[in-house]
Amino acid sequence: MKVAFFDTKSYDKPSFEKYGKEYGIEFKYFETKLNADTAELAHGFDGVCVFVNDTVDAEVIDKLCEVGVQFIALRCAGFNNVDMKHAFGRIHVFRVPAYSPYAVAEHTMALLLTSIRRIHKAYIRSRDFNFSLSGLTGFDLHGKTVGVIGTGKIGRVFIDICRGFGMRVLAYDKYPAQGLDNGDTVRYVELDELFANSDIISLHCPLTEETHHMINAEAIEKCKKGVVILNTSRGALVDAEALLAGIKSRKVGAACLDVYEEESDLFFEDNSGHILEDDTLARLISMPNVIVTSHQAFLTEDALENIAETTVTNIVGFYKSGECPNELCYRGGNAEDCKSGKCF
Ligand code: NAI
Repeated sequence: MKVAFFDTKSYDKPSFEKYGKEYGIEFKYFETKLNADTAELAHGFDGVCVFVNDTVDAEVIDKLCEVGVQFIALRCAGFNNVDMKHAFGRIHVFRVPAYSPYAVAEHTMALLLTSIRRIHKAYIRSRDFNFSLSGLTGFDLHGKTVGVIGTGKIGRVFIDICRGFGMRVLAYDKYPAQGLDNGDTVRYVELDELFANSDIISLHCPLTEETHHMINAEAIEKCKKGVVILNTSRGALVDAEALLAGIKSRKVGAACLDVYEEESDLFFEDNSGHILEDDTLARLISMPNVIVTSHQAFLTEDALENIAETTVTNIVGFYKSGECPNELCYRGGNAEDCKSGKCF
C-alpha cells in the first residue's frame, strides 16, 4: 500500500518508517503541504497522510477523489482543517484521537511556569553572566484559581497537574465529564463565572464555529486584571488582536501561545531570515510577558511513536476489516448521519 505523506518534517520519518516497514505501508514523503495546488502529487497513491496545517477543503477532497485516493489519514487529533461535511460519502478520514495528552498538558504547564517565574528572561541573563534578579519577581501557583475550558483528555491531565500545585480549578465544558466536579477544588461553572474568577485560563477545547474567538474583547473584559491566558489548543480560539489590546491595557498579565490563528504559513518552519509580515504576531512576540512556541506541545518521543503507530494501524485495520474505530467520516454513509454528527 502506498501513502503520500504531506508536510514532512525530519522528526516524522523515523517512527513512520519503523511502523510502515512493520505493517507493509510504503510512505512517500513530500515536504510541501497538501492544498489544491499539490493534491495532484497524490496521483497513484492509495491514501494521503496529513497534519494540522494541510488544507483539506472541498476542492482538495474532490481532487484527491479524482486521482483515486481512498483515504485521508490525519496524524493529529484535531480535524478543523478538514471539510468533514464534504468528505462524508466521498472519502474515508481517520485520525489519531489521542497520542499523548500528557505531552500537551505538560507543555502547557511548562509555558505557564516559564512565563510567571520569568525563566525565559533569567535564562538569557545568566548566559550573559547577568545575575541580577530585578524584574524577575513571579507569583506562587499554590492557592491560585485556574479556569480550564474543555475537560477532555488534555484538559483533565492539565487539571491533575494543577491540582498537584495546590490550585483550585474552575472548569467549563459543553459536555461536562462525569465525576470530575468534587464540589470543592474542582467545580464546573458557566463561562462568565470562569472568566470572572480565574487567575489563569487554559484552553483545551476543539476549534468549532462555536468556540472560534471565544477569547475575544468581550471575554477579556470579564476577566480578572492580570489574568494569564494559555492556549495550546487551536489558534483561532483566541482573537489575537483583542489579546494584544488586553496586554497593552495591562488587563492581561501574560499570555502563552503554542498555537496562533495565522500559524499555517509560519509555524514549523525556520523563518529567521525573513521579515515577519504578520504585525500582530510580531507585536505579541515583542512583549516581555508573551511566550510563543510553534505548535510544539505534542512534540515528545512518546507522542511521535503513538502518532505513527496509530496512523499505521488505522490504515491497516481499515483495509483488513473495512472498519476503523478512529474513522471520522464514513465514505459509504449518508449525509443525514453527517449532519446529525453521527459520522464523527
Ligand atoms: P478531547 O476531545 O478529549 O476534549 C475536548 C473537550 O472539549 C471535550 O470534553 C469536549 O466536550 C469539549 N468541548 C467541545 N466543544 C466545546 C465548547 N463549545 N466549549 C467548551 N468545551 C467544548 O480533545 P483533547 O485530546 O483533549 O484535545 C483538545 C484540543 O487540543 C484539540 O481539539 C486540539 O485542538 C488541541 N491539541 C493541540 C496539540 C498541540 O500540539 N498544541 C496537540 C493535540 C491536540
